[in-house]
Amino acid sequence: MVLFLYFYIMKKYPIGIFDSGIGGLTIANAIKSVLPNENIIYYGDTEHLPYGEKSKEAIQSFSKRIIRFLLTKRCKIIVIACNSASSVADESVTNIACNTSIFNVIDPIIAEVSKISTKDNIGVIGTKATISSGIYEEKLKKLCRNRKIKSLATPLLAPMIEEGFINEEISNTIIANYLSSTQLKNINHLILACTHYPLIQQEIKKYYRNNVNVIDSANIVANYIAKKLEEDNLLNNEKLSEYNFYVSNYTDSFEKSARFFFEEVIKLEQVNIFS
Ligand code: DGL
Repeated sequence: MVLFLYFYIMKKYPIGIFDSGIGGLTIANAIKSVLPNENIIYYGDTEHLPYGEKSKEAIQSFSKRIIRFLLTKRCKIIVIACNSASSVADESVTNIACNTSIFNVIDPIIAEVSKISTKDNIGVIGTKATISSGIYEEKLKKLCRNRKIKSLATPLLAPMIEEGFINEEISNTIIANYLSSTQLKNINHLILACTHYPLIQQEIKKYYRNNVNVIDSANIVANYIAKKLEEDNLLNNEKLSEYNFYVSNYTDSFEKSARFFFEEVIKLEQVNIFS
């Protein structure tokens, strides 16, 4: 009876999601599509954006603050919807949540890529923080020592997307410039290791003319989370979904860009949890 009550209450609690800004809304959007009954609380640390240019210690410290905030909102699980934060989220970060599971956006991709033939070359693009952490290589090589991985930091892409330069001449030029790098030569699959990049997936696919499999990270993460919630008996059965969005530094432009990321009009509320 006690256990039944525990799950009855827990199921209704929201999924906490955070990112350095609004890129993680691509993950929130995918979770909303796969799990339409779930309540979502989103925190975008727009004050400290971009995480991709910050030190490991700074990103860990921001992440801990945000996790504490999401715990006060009684989140049943927390998703680190930022590759840069996920890449440095060691136990010092995840252990602060005690009874709440914290998921990163890297492990679901690793699980998916592990199904790909080891003869194929895997490319990874992401922020400087993600690529310099070497986390994708480390995790993929742990599963298969001979796996060939080619990584490239593409730091201009996140600010470009954030500014709304999508499917324009300038964005296609920047994308082509990065993807033509010899560093990514002969890849068969490309991991979009930044939560902003699903928004330029079509341009990337167009660049490769379907010769490279572009891995759809947002949907992979959303399906992974859905499976975990189901396994833990935490899926919300009632259609009561409510979405709340918080940012550390509010600007009109973020609210406008957020529409592209979440695919509906949303209201961002400023909550400073850092002072
Ligand atoms: N969303 C972040 C990521 O996935 C990129 C933006 C940033 O540098 O903060 O790494």
